[in-house]
Amino acid sequence: MNNPLSGSNAYLSPRVSVIGAGNVGKTLTQRIVEKNLADVVLLDILEGLPQGIALDLIEARGLEQHDRTVFGTNNYAETANSDIVVITAGLARKPGMSRDDLVHINAKIVTEIAKKTLIYSPNALYLVITNPLDVMTYLVWKATGISPQRVMGMAGVLDSSRLQTFIALELDICTTDVTAMVLGGHGDLMLPLPRYCTVRGIPITELMEEGTIARLIERTRNGGAEIVKLLQTGGAYYAPASSACLMVEALLNNQSRLLPTAAYLRGEYGLEDIYLGVPCRLDRQGVGNILELELTTAEQEAFHASASAVRKSIDVALNYA
Ligand code: NAD
Ligand code: LAC
Repeated sequence: MNNPLSGSNAYLSPRVSVIGAGNVGKTLTQRIVEKNLADVVLLDILEGLPQGIALDLIEARGLEQHDRTVFGTNNYAETANSDIVVITAGLARKPGMSRDDLVHINAKIVTEIAKKTLIYSPNALYLVITNPLDVMTYLVWKATGISPQRVMGMAGVLDSSRLQTFIALELDICTTDVTAMVLGGHGDLMLPLPRYCTVRGIPITELMEEGTIARLIERTRNGGAEIVKLLQTGGAYYAPASSACLMVEALLNNQSRLLPTAAYLRGEYGLEDIYLGVPCRLDRQGVGNILELELTTAEQEAFHASASAVRKSIDVALNYA
């Protein structure tokens, strides 16, 4: 099948290349086209997988009332002129594995993908999803050598969405009335911030006992593992895909949204040369700016502990990249 995105006027529409047609990649592709955000080139190493998913998705266009193109391929040349490259390729966790257990395998995969996609899309923004997230985002930035403003990772939106859900369930209240903020690394040392979690502006610390908040925070920290344990065959992908789609929309539509994003720190929060989840303004240029919150001493210590864990994994990953 010829690539309908290679025609002369094909470049008029925004284009997102999703690398990895697995659970996250295919669900994100579906979200992007069915929200009518962009055309998608879906690439995987498995022959037939992206092509079959693409055909299945476009066969739903009439029903879902969009005319976005999905092109499945195993050829990086077909990802040319992407506005955004989303990297979901790699291994997912199995029960009992930590995200860090994926470093040695996924480091090589994301590094290769970063280099190959940049050849064809030298101006693309990069949104990394592959775990361990903060480490893989750092490797993609290193491998591309582009401005760190153009390379970011998705995790904080997912973790914050999980905490938002748990708060809403606990209070039996509409989820959209809840806001939650989770920063730091996407791992056991992630940093939920109750002070910045509210129900219509009312801090949850005024609505819940400390012990309840601690229980919801613990469930958020274990959010990924809880689903891996239930599924047994892989990790979460619906909420991750929704989280990534929200970021893709903010980037493509220049929305200046303030979202927790794995971003490159150059002194913010007292940290250098690391990717970590912080509040960022996302726009068409990528990470517009990083909001530096006034953390308490305890929060700062927890944030730096999370950073230390990520730093250690980066140092390990650089040996495999
Ligand atoms: P999956 O196994 O369903 O899909 C991975 C896909 O990547 C497979 O189709 C595989 O063929 C493909 N792939 C492997 N190597 C490749 C390569 N070199 N080039 C192109 N494609 C390649 O896994 P999934 O559930 O979609 O998860 C993907 C990754 O995203 C995992 O690392 C997972 O841990 C991570 N993840 C991160 C978050 C987050 O919050 N950041 C959330 C969910 C999943
Ligand atoms: C999660 C893992 C897959 O948080 O990162 O679901």
